[in-house]
Amino acid sequence: MMREDSAPTELVIRQAHILDPGSGLDGVMDVRLSSGRISEVGEGLHGPRELDAEGLHLFPGFVDVHAHWRTPGREDEEDIESGSAAAAAGGFTGVVMMPNTDPVVDRPVMVSGLVRRVERESRVRARVSAALHVGLAGERLTEMRLLKEAGAFCVSDDGLGTASAGVLRNGMLYAHSAGLPVFLHCEDHTLATGVVHDGVAASLAGLPGSPASAEDAATATALILAAETGAKVHITHVSTALSAALVGFFKERADVTADTTPHHLTLTDDLVSTLEGLYRVNPPLRPDGDRGGVEAALREGILDFVATDHAPHASEEKELPMEEAAPGFLGHETAFAALYTDLVLTGRLSLTRLVETMSCAPGEWVGEGGSLRIGAPADLTLVDLSEEWTVGRETLISRSSNSPYLGRTLTGRVVGTIVGGEPVHDRTGARFGVRA
Ligand code: DOR
Repeated sequence: MMREDSAPTELVIRQAHILDPGSGLDGVMDVRLSSGRISEVGEGLHGPRELDAEGLHLFPGFVDVHAHWRTPGREDEEDIESGSAAAAAGGFTGVVMMPNTDPVVDRPVMVSGLVRRVERESRVRARVSAALHVGLAGERLTEMRLLKEAGAFCVSDDGLGTASAGVLRNGMLYAHSAGLPVFLHCEDHTLATGVVHDGVAASLAGLPGSPASAEDAATATALILAAETGAKVHITHVSTALSAALVGFFKERADVTADTTPHHLTLTDDLVSTLEGLYRVNPPLRPDGDRGGVEAALREGILDFVATDHAPHASEEKELPMEEAAPGFLGHETAFAALYTDLVLTGRLSLTRLVETMSCAPGEWVGEGGSLRIGAPADLTLVDLSEEWTVGRETLISRSSNSPYLGRTLTGRVVGTIVGGEPVHDRTGARFGVRA
């Protein structure tokens, strides 16, 4: 983690509206951060260094379990420095990095190398996912015990579904014995042969579609195997109402958690009519019925949390017709604002539930962060819920600019992010300064 020599060992943040559903905090209070941890929450706190945060909301730092920082291999699109700066700008204090890089992170030496680079180059806490299969090829399992020793947090072939149920079952058994969670992108490639969701919008646009069953069949298989093997399984980017319902059915029958993305919660396949490759993503944007089903599942706790699937791509891979474009959206910097604008301000999701799904629940899944209880790491996010801002290439800190929200005016902006008591993103300075 980047350290600044001038970083305060103690900081009192005064008069923010603190909201931490996990600790039952909801009101205007002060918080003291000492030696990288939360040391006191209360009223009338003072210290040698104070930040006046009146009018701002303070949440436990957001945690994003699904990030593609493109290191190694595509540092022209993102790297640990730029990815972690984008994460910090979005209020994220922790992420999990996906292994679909070039080369794939499938050997212990690559994991230990990345862990060391993260320590030096990342502004936020970043965990490394290793591949489930060598080369993500869905054939040979990786050496999971050695990968874990090298520092891998979980295993995943994200970006690709798993070709065969038999191979996936073995992978779950091995990961379970190695003590590693399996992080799954559920897509059956024999069904997912198109480039957008197979629905009315695809037909009108004349584009080849992938049916919802491509995700649903793979999700059902994964859940059945999770129940049978006992593996700890996380299903990422759930995008259909049926897959969400399947997760609900298996919640009590398997050690399973699931997330969905800000884009599947706020955008639909209407965008297919633009024919623009910018809007291509896997799994594809779905019709509003699926979007609503996923939203309801998140509201009800069937889906555990939100993860962005932050997937930077160079403009020459995105400014193309839909059929030729690379799938994926930037996610870190717009996640909170998109969800706050489209779900909270419209009354469809409470702010409390949004914080649970961006901070508490993913923090619990990674085992650190997502809480403002006394003694917890001082990882927190300061947000101005009234600030309106327009997403533009010039506002984005990521090295890429493939945001599906480009041009959208959103409400709610992260103004400060603190990791281990140290500021890693700071837009408060201009307005408040830190009184030393
Ligand atoms: O759209 C996507 N892009 N979905 C994924 O699962 C992977 C990601 C990427 O790596 O670009």
